[in-house]
Amino acid sequence: MNNQLYMAPMLDFTDGTFRDVYFKHFSGVDRAISPFIVISENSFYKKKAIQSLLPSLYESIPVEPQILGKDPLAFAALVNLLEAEGFQSVNINMGCPARAVVNKGRGSGLLPYPDKIEKFLDIAFSKINIPLSVKMRTGLNSHNEIYPLIQILNAYPISEVIIHPRLGIKKYEGPVDLEVMDDLVALLRMPIVFNGDISRSSFYMLNKRYRSIDRWMLGRELLRDPFLAQDIKISLSSNKNILSGTFAVNNERAVTVRAFHDDLLKAFTGIIKREAALVGKMKAYWSFWESLFPLKKWEIEKMKRIVKLDEYIHCIDRIFDN
Ligand SMILES: Cc1cc2nc3c(=O)[nH]c(=O)nc-3n(C[C@H](O)[C@H](O)[C@H](O)COP(=O)(O)O)c2cc1C
Repeated sequence: MNNQLYMAPMLDFTDGTFRDVYFKHFSGVDRAISPFIVISENSFYKKKAIQSLLPSLYESIPVEPQILGKDPLAFAALVNLLEAEGFQSVNINMGCPARAVVNKGRGSGLLPYPDKIEKFLDIAFSKINIPLSVKMRTGLNSHNEIYPLIQILNAYPISEVIIHPRLGIKKYEGPVDLEVMDDLVALLRMPIVFNGDISRSSFYMLNKRYRSIDRWMLGRELLRDPFLAQDIKISLSSNKNILSGTFAVNNERAVTVRAFHDDLLKAFTGIIKREAALVGKMKAYWSFWESLFPLKKWEIEKMKRIVKLDEYIHCIDRIFDN
């Protein structure tokens, strides 16, 4: 099976600048979904949101723009704009669990309302010309919400469904619910992308459990472990499970991580003008990267307090020199 690996959309982390730099240093990822852009309910666009997506058209791997919203007409208007700009497919977010999003009936806030989803898909598909994929949770408050949706989803030509098998109310906590996933794999008719807690230690179990799935979306663990996708690919092509339970950076890989880090800092320096904001942006990635290095708690705490660029670089030098 030709397994495809996807980079998950992660707002504030996997934006175009990050993706561009990531793909220069690491391989294994075949596709990406962009972090969401919000549709404007009054169809007033918002050049900035669209312009922020345009560079994705020239990335080295295909990027599908993701849209968050619930008004199908405004959604279709945005999809048609994106098509005119050159995008060949789009994704609708039915998974975001943030309270502000759910309270407006968007993201996973749509899942308890099969009628609304049906109406949304009905109108959207009558007005758009390019393929539409769906990214979803397995319910907002209860897994019972997902079952009435299966028939509705199967009735439309959805290009693929990306499933993160957790309830919206669980946010990112607790185990993924594989029993509900089993049902969806058996009952949904379109291609399925598995998403949720894929790591070196879980990939083979999931790959064995879901023989019919050949699309895998990697999120937080790809940030923590940037070699994850390339090692999964090597492992699959050699037919050997070379993935160890944990990932440690050896010297050679530390050189790659350092080069990646420095390129990312350079790229953001060209975009973020305020020093503290630039340092803040880089420090946010360290909430993932800290697991790559044997950092002590006080070192992490110290980094959190840094606001000046030269202090940040000094701190990074010490981490990489150790
Ligand atoms: C900081 C952060 C931002 C995210 N932003 C988005 C987003 O814009 N759109 C989306 O569909 N999912 C978003 N997600 C969810 C991820 O795409 C993914 O579904 C989730 O993290 C589970 O996959 P993982 O366990 O591999 O991380 C975000 C998750 C995190 C942690």
